[in-house]
Amino acid sequence: MDKKVYELLNDQINKELYSAYLYLSFADYYEEEGLDGYANWYEIQAQEERDHALIFRNYLHENGEKVKLLAIDQPDKTFSNHLEPLEAGLEHEKYVTSLINDIYAAAVEANDYRTQKFLGWFIDEQLEEEDTADDMITKMKLFGGDARSLFELNQEYAGRTYTTPSPLAQA
Ligand code: FEO
Repeated sequence: MDKKVYELLNDQINKELYSAYLYLSFADYYEEEGLDGYANWYEIQAQEERDHALIFRNYLHENGEKVKLLAIDQPDKTFSNHLEPLEAGLEHEKYVTSLINDIYAAAVEANDYRTQKFLGWFIDEQLEEEDTADDMITKMKLFGGDARSLFELNQEYAGRTYTTPSPLAQA
């Protein structure tokens, strides 16, 4: 495997684990605010991010490449209202999209068609994650100021359940 493609793929394991850590910190914030539905939503999101890390890890193993696990940064965000984590989430997902794009660009440069195909799932996933993050912001802006509506939104997010992402389900 091309060295740059390898380094970016290996780094992405770390970035996805950091995403899991970041979203756990969001879940903690909402738990402390009494919004257990939002906390549940981000706990499940953290599980999905760990899964994303495993998908990259598996891909390196399948290709006979060595996995180097790196230190995970401490999430350092503090929030002063219910909207801020949601906005930070969208900003973070846009950043992750840029990382996926960077790996794809390196794979194109290296004529690594296999990695390009592998990244297809993540390209679709990022569109979905940005869309969902945007939707959560819109709903909080529209309804978050009303206690009853916020209660109902919280109930909706309490209903989120975990499903294994398809690349891991097939593995
Ligand atoms: Fe692993 Fe939220 O992207």
